[in-house]
Amino acid sequence: MVTAKDKILVIDDQPSVRFGLRRLLEGEGYRVLEAETGAQALPIVTENAPELILLDLRLPDVNGLELLTRIKEIDDDVPIIILTAHGTIESAILALKSGAENFFTKPFDAESILILIAKTLERSRARRELLLAGLVQERVTSEFFHGESEAILRIYQTIERLAQSDSTVLLQGETGTGKGVIARLIHRLSARNEKPFVAVNCAGLSRELLESELFGHEKGAFTGAVASKPGLFELAHAGTIFFDEIAEMEPAIQARVLTVLEEKRFRRVGGIQEKEVDVRVVAATNRNLQAEIKRGRFREDLFYRLNVMPLTMPPLKARRADILPLAKHFILHYSQRLNRRVQGVTPKAEVLLESYNWPGNIRELRNVIERAVILCSGDRIHASDLPLGGPELLESAKQDESEQFLSLEEVERLHIQRILTATGNNLSRGAEILGVTRSTLYNKMRRYQGEPS
Ligand SMILES: Nc1ncnc2c1ncn2[C@@H]1O[C@H](COP(=O)(O)OP(=O)(O)OP(=O)(O)O)[C@@H](O)[C@H]1O
Ligand SMILES: [Mg+2]
Repeated sequence: MVTAKDKILVIDDQPSVRFGLRRLLEGEGYRVLEAETGAQALPIVTENAPELILLDLRLPDVNGLELLTRIKEIDDDVPIIILTAHGTIESAILALKSGAENFFTKPFDAESILILIAKTLERSRARRELLLAGLVQERVTSEFFHGESEAILRIYQTIERLAQSDSTVLLQGETGTGKGVIARLIHRLSARNEKPFVAVNCAGLSRELLESELFGHEKGAFTGAVASKPGLFELAHAGTIFFDEIAEMEPAIQARVLTVLEEKRFRRVGGIQEKEVDVRVVAATNRNLQAEIKRGRFREDLFYRLNVMPLTMPPLKARRADILPLAKHFILHYSQRLNRRVQGVTPKAEVLLESYNWPGNIRELRNVIERAVILCSGDRIHASDLPLGGPELLESAKQDESEQFLSLEEVERLHIQRILTATGNNLSRGAEILGVTRSTLYNKMRRYQGEPS
């Protein structure tokens, strides 16, 4: 079954091969993207998220296997079919070991390559459906999108570095900024990634429950303990334990957890024997732990034990340069998942997205985009598909009917004005969002306003 939206990226330096494949594939209703080199291919993978890739291993600028690995880092799930000439089967086999789906020998037989592509797409679609049904674990690397702002690049560098160590990480930041996502990413990037990642939500569990959940219990330890059961600490052994919403942990449990972290051993509830544990600890909270300590709700000693590698996720409004890239990422995600043709947003909708304060951060942005993709009737999301208003929307971005027939220059002037309002007149950030240099922006402001404000 070919759906119109299936995009296939052909990476081959021979124009004749690309041309031949394009004709063949377009004839079948696929959309074809082309790259001649590895350098051209990577941004296409990031921006267009093709459903399938045809890759020639012999490229002018990179080793094909290396390129394959880099593509897999961007999108672990995209199936890659290797194009190979006779006599280079060895490298095709190496490619299969590095995660390619299949290979094909040139010159192609049109019929069989079409069958192979159709089957591969079918299988990949089935896998996606399993993912959605929660039957297989989602790969964090493909879920994680790191954006382009300086703030987030710095955080990403820190994460790569601290993932290598075994240090305890304390993630702080507003709700929806991605603490849970980062915790999983840290585990994935660490040497423990083949071992369990165990998430403990400390909110909403009573003291008794949390205690037996964490430490396990022996048979007969309490009414209802009909069999002995290992706790989450035991399950996380050799892996990572993630204490989410740590501020909600009861003080009595805090004391016990602190002891385990310090002594690296514990007893099951009702148990006598001590067990050793080796876990890497990541904790997260959207509360201000210092304030919780002052109010006597959080133990200071536990705080210091956790605060070895503190990392604070910035709110989305402090990284406005990431709003549109993230929005595009979610648009792609939801149009695939919901079988829609939505490909982008109108300029007006862009301004709206960038001017909103996003109190619910990335989670809110994701939800807003999901809803818009469902509501949207065409292939682009309009401002009217976005339920953004109220006090969180900067004044300058509110809708104005008289703007419908503006000249290009007026649109540019208005847009610049809005971005500057949205960034608090920060020239550097404004230029970053607008994709121009600081001096270009400065000159445009002079032209439009006489003087930069
Ligand atoms: N870097 C990211 N790339 C893609 N999606 C993200 C990213 N960060 C967050 N999200 C999305 O936002 C949602 C919220 O993220 P997450 O649950 O990690 O936030 P949180 O900081 O733990 O929030 P809370 O404090 O409310 O628990 C995630 O389910 C995910 O879909
Ligand atoms: Mg969370």
